[in-house]
Amino acid sequence: LNNGLASTPQMGWNSWNFFACNISETIIKETTDALVSTGLAELGYDHVNIDDCWSSPLRDLKGQLVPDTITFPSGIKALADYVHGKGLKLGIYSDAGVFTCQVRPGSLFHEKDDAALFASWGVDYLKYDNCFNLGIEPKKRYPPMRDALNETGCSIFYSLCEWGVDDPALWAGKVGNSWRTTGDINDTWASIADINDKWASYAGPGGWNDPDMLEVGNGGMSYQEYRAHFSIWALMKAPLLIGCDVRNMTAETFEILSNKEVIAVNQDPLGVQGRKVYVSGTDNCLQVWAGPLSGHRLVVALWNRCPKAETITAQWDALGLESSTKVSVRDLWQHKQVTGDAVSSFAAQVDAHDCQMYIFTPRTVTRSVI
Ligand code: DGJ
Repeated sequence: LNNGLASTPQMGWNSWNFFACNISETIIKETTDALVSTGLAELGYDHVNIDDCWSSPLRDLKGQLVPDTITFPSGIKALADYVHGKGLKLGIYSDAGVFTCQVRPGSLFHEKDDAALFASWGVDYLKYDNCFNLGIEPKKRYPPMRDALNETGCSIFYSLCEWGVDDPALWAGKVGNSWRTTGDINDTWASIADINDKWASYAGPGGWNDPDMLEVGNGGMSYQEYRAHFSIWALMKAPLLIGCDVRNMTAETFEILSNKEVIAVNQDPLGVQGRKVYVSGTDNCLQVWAGPLSGHRLVVALWNRCPKAETITAQWDALGLESSTKVSVRDLWQHKQVTGDAVSSFAAQVDAHDCQMYIFTPRTVTRSVI
């Protein structure tokens, strides 16, 4: 969507994956503080996004949405002021249906009022869900909110959460800044391994495929699995929305989420989504994912989905490199150059369910003048 936002995928935090409906203004404020004090905000995680359950079960007599009086007693404007005061942005949630998924009032047929209300509160971002949609097709329900947000004159990031039901990549580029391509993620390896690159060519500055928010740090997966999750999401130019309790992160969780080199892949200005370029092994469990980066560089991920450590080889033809190209290789998890240039292929041993991630920089070919 050409609204001046989303030149790179959105980054930040969202309440749903860890807190679900158990949210409050205290949690949102403490999370804001933690994003700042841990340094995550400075690394680019600048959105604090409230998901479902912030609103009262009923609109007021004027038909306006009302924040839950028990959990958000100070209201959303005060919260937005707090978050802005810390240099971050506040996101809110509604639904392109008559109710949200947790049966709070939805915004279908209230788009103008609700967008104006969100804008008056100083909200910077809207996640727009798909429950209770009366069977009306998404293509008809999502554009009215885009127009209503636009009419507020404020810059509000528009995140479509249509779960990929009506192939949103095909039409949402003109509607939103990101669109969900999948059903809900959960904190399991099976959920992560289900990722697909089907819609890669539709992503770019202004509009991104959204395979759902991060589960890193929620406890259901190993360090290696979370590292694979984060690596592949970054390479896919997915939104990097943290979904754990950042007030209580382990050192490992922080190490993964704060990897500057992996974040830089996600936020690379070229904005081209990487994809799966090569598979081998039983059930295609050895995978190479790759994509172009600015400066003629490539990001290459070796992802081992097999049950034991294996060697994975990236062949130059799968990467679209000329067979004569020499590349220098930087390991983004070890934070060091791999010694020597690689020629025609590159291989590494990868632990079970782990992913190694590299940047390949082609050496400039110097020709001797005869
Ligand atoms: C469904 C969405 O896909 C989730 O991300 C979350 O927003 C829930 N609804 C909230 O009810």
